[in-house]
Amino acid sequence: MKSLLIVGTGRLATALLHRLAGLEDWKVSLLGRNREKALSLGLEFKVPVYALEDPFLPFADGLLLAVKDDAVEDLAARFADRARVLIHLSGGLPLSSVGHHCAHAAVVYPLQTFARPREVSWQEIPLFLQATSEEALTFAGEVARALGGPLYESSDLERQRLHLCAVWASNFSRLMLAEAWRLCQQWNLSFAHLLPLIQETFRGALTGDSLTDLITGPAARGDEATMQTHRQLLNSLPEQAELYSLLSKRIQALLHRAED
Ligand SMILES: NC(=O)c1ccc[n+]([C@@H]2O[C@H](COP(=O)([O-])OP(=O)(O)OC[C@H]3O[C@@H](n4cnc5c(N)ncnc54)[C@H](OP(=O)(O)O)[C@@H]3O)[C@@H](O)[C@H]2O)c1
Repeated sequence: MKSLLIVGTGRLATALLHRLAGLEDWKVSLLGRNREKALSLGLEFKVPVYALEDPFLPFADGLLLAVKDDAVEDLAARFADRARVLIHLSGGLPLSSVGHHCAHAAVVYPLQTFARPREVSWQEIPLFLQATSEEALTFAGEVARALGGPLYESSDLERQRLHLCAVWASNFSRLMLAEAWRLCQQWNLSFAHLLPLIQETFRGALTGDSLTDLITGPAARGDEATMQTHRQLLNSLPEQAELYSLLSKRIQALLHRAED
């Protein structure tokens, strides 16, 4: 049986617990800064819980740092002697943020958004691996196989580029939907009227066709008068108006480039 100490009590830590706690070959424990959240997750997933300042932390085969990117390096330094392999799970951080602190260090980056961590299908999530030693790579592979998704080895640069693409595809797409939702709220319109359009937008994106070809709308057609009406509607919302103009310009630049 292999032991894993998961650090963090946020979205990814919860999704990891959901998948790994209770697996036969793994003994999972949780280390959290927020005592209340850690205890509640410990109860829910039936795993032992430790606090950061606990003097008797167990030694684990692997320490999974599921914390804010900015905290990874400090926690890696602080708990390097508590595990054989140190692992971070961030798309944006280099391997060295754990590699500086331990002979055996790895990255296991799950390319997914964990906004609803208890509903994650790990089997479909691609996992990008990188390690400082054969031993760390083998262990990271075992963790990744327990999670269940397809595995790929990647360099820092490939992973950071993929992460940036994920920000565009997921975070920014959701921002656009959130902006539409907020405008509906503000003007007392039903967001439900937009649902068939939203479904078709994402269904289209999954077909593998050229996504540039799928962009329609006033900016794509060059309907200046309609765009002017939209800008007037956004008169009292300068941030949205600025974003509208910027995105419309980007659509036109993309489409003209595609025509060249
Ligand atoms: N969420 C995703 O979609 C996703 C996808 C792939 C990879 N990741 C990676 O997973 C990691 C965690 O992300 P997340 O989305 O789970 O973040 P999150 O939900 O915001 O949770 C962050 C966790 O980090 C803890 N933390 C922050 N600073 C800390 C410190 N100085 N010392 C100890 N604990 C600290 C927080 O504790 P408190 O509650 O006490 O603040 C919280 O438990 C990041 O490296 C991220 O890049 C996330």
